Amino acid sequence: MVSVSWVDSSRAVTGACIRWFTTGERLRTVAARLGAVTGYETRGAMTQITTPPAFDAAAASTAYRNALDVIAAVEPDVASAMRQELTDQRESLKLIASENYASPAVLLAMGSWLSDKYAEGTIGHRFYAGCRNVDTVEQLAADHARALFGAPHAYVQPHSGIDANLVAFWAVLAQRVEAPALAAAGVRQVNDLSAEDWGQLRRAFGNQRMIGMSLDAGGHLTHGFRPNISGKMFDQMSYGTNPENGLLDYDEVRRLAREFRPLILMAGYSAYPRKINFATMREIADEVDATLIVDMAHFAGLVAGKVFTGDFDPVPYAHVTTTTTHKSLRGPRGGMVLCQPEFSDSVDRGCPLVLGGPLAHVMAAKAVALAEARQAAFAEYARAVADNAVALAEGLLRRGANLVTGGTENHIVLLDVTSFGLTGRQAESALVDSGIVTNRNSVPRDPNGAWYTSGIRLGTPALTSRGFGADDLDRVADLIVDVLTATEPAAARDGAASKARYELPDDVAKRTHAAANELLDAHPLYPGLDLS
Ligand SMILES: Cc1ncc(COP(=O)(O)O)c(C=O)c1O
Repeated sequence: MVSVSWVDSSRAVTGACIRWFTTGERLRTVAARLGAVTGYETRGAMTQITTPPAFDAAAASTAYRNALDVIAAVEPDVASAMRQELTDQRESLKLIASENYASPAVLLAMGSWLSDKYAEGTIGHRFYAGCRNVDTVEQLAADHARALFGAPHAYVQPHSGIDANLVAFWAVLAQRVEAPALAAAGVRQVNDLSAEDWGQLRRAFGNQRMIGMSLDAGGHLTHGFRPNISGKMFDQMSYGTNPENGLLDYDEVRRLAREFRPLILMAGYSAYPRKINFATMREIADEVDATLIVDMAHFAGLVAGKVFTGDFDPVPYAHVTTTTTHKSLRGPRGGMVLCQPEFSDSVDRGCPLVLGGPLAHVMAAKAVALAEARQAAFAEYARAVADNAVALAEGLLRRGANLVTGGTENHIVLLDVTSFGLTGRQAESALVDSGIVTNRNSVPRDPNGAWYTSGIRLGTPALTSRGFGADDLDRVADLIVDVLTATEPAAARDGAASKARYELPDDVAKRTHAAANELLDAHPLYPGLDLS
C-alpha cells in the first residue's frame, strides 16, 4: 500500500508519514522519485519509510528570508544569531529528551502582531477591550486540545510547564482550601473575609501536603522540591522506585499516601523511562482523599499519538493534567492545563492569579501544533518515537551498557555510565566533543549527586522528527558506546580522582563526528528550507 498523495514533489513539499510497503524495491524507486523521503529501512519483506513533518519548503524559505531581512535592518546581530541557530541545530545529533523541532507553521505562527495584544482573563471574559482575535486563537487551541486529549476542559494560557503546574496547584488550593473557608465564613470572595479569617486562610494555604516522585527517580523540581516554589508552598514527601528493578513502586506510593495524607498526589516525570499506571495512581489518590495531578510535560506527545492508552493515558484519571507543549508534543514553548469540570473555573483564573498576561501569538502557535497533532501522521510519529527509543535501548544493551529499569517504554533511555568508569558529567562532555548532544542525569540513589550524576538521559523525539528510523538509532547506540568506552577519567589538578575531567582520544572524537554527520546528512532538518 503506497500512499503518497500528501507529497507534492514539484514544490519540494515533504510529508510526515510512516508507511509499510510490501516490496522494498518498489519503495526505493518511489522514494527516489519523490526526493522528499529521508529514510527507509527494510524489515523482512516490509519496508518502513520515515519522513519529517510536512511543510512547503519554497514558501517557508521565502518567509524566513524576508523575515530575517526585516530583522537585520534593525539589529543584524539578532538575525545572524537566528541563522546560526538553524545551522547549529542542523549540525547536531540531538538526543535531549525534552527538545524537538516544531514545524515552520508553528514557528511562523509565533511571529505576529498577536503578540502586541493584552488579554488578561479568559475567552469572552477579558479585562481589556478588543480581544476578539485573541479569543479566536485561544478558543481554537482549547478546542483542539480537548478533542486531541479527550479532556472536558483545556486552559492554554500557561507560558511554560512550571507555570502550568502553578496554575494546577492554585486551582486545587482554591477548590479544596479556599472554597470551604469562604463557605464557612458565609462570603463569596476573599475580599469579603475579615482580617482574622483571611489570616487563618493564608495559614491554611501554607499548611498543605503533597507527594511526588523523587528527583533521583526521575521526578521534576516543580513536584514539591525546595528550590522550586512548589517546595516552599507544600510540605512534601517523595516516593521512589524499587531498588531491585528501578520501577515505580505503587505499594510504596500507597504506603506513603496513607501515612502522609497529602492534599495532592503528583505523578509524572522528566527522567523515568517507563509508563505509569494512572488508574492505580487515581485509586491511591481516592483512598486518601487526595487530588491527582499528572504532569505529562515529557510524554504528552505519546498520549496525543495514542501510544499511551487505557490505564496509561492520564487524562481520564487525573483531576488535573498539566503539560508543556514543546517537548514530545512538538509545539511552541509553552504550557497547558487539562482538567475535570469541577476544577475548570479555578483553572481559568490562572491569569492574573499566577500568570502574566496571555501570549496570544504563542496560543496561536499552540492551536497550529495541536491541529497538527490531531492528524493521523502525528500518531505515526509518536509510535516511531517509542519504537526508536526501543531500538536505541536494545542497541545499547546489546553492546553491554547498563540501563536504568533495563529498557524503555516511552521516549526516554536512561544510561547508567558507571560501568564505563565515568560520571554523567564526564560522559556528557565526551559525547558533546564527539558531536552527540545529551544531558547528564541522576540515576536512582545516585552516588555522584545531582551535579556530577551517574547517568545520561537520551530521548528520541527530536531525531524522530528528522526522520531517523530504528537502524539509525542502533547506529547512534554504537557511536555512544564507542565514545564512552574510549573515554578515561582524568585526575584533578591536585592528583585526586576528578568527577569532571576526562580524556578522549582525538581520533575517536573525529570519527564519531564524521559518522554523526553522515546520519545528519541523510536526515536533514527542515529539508528544502534555504536561507541563502
Ligand atoms: C515533568 C516536567 N514538568 C515541568 C517542566 C517545566 O517546563 P518548563 O521548562 O516549560 O517550565 C519540565 C521541564 O523540563 C518537566 O520535565
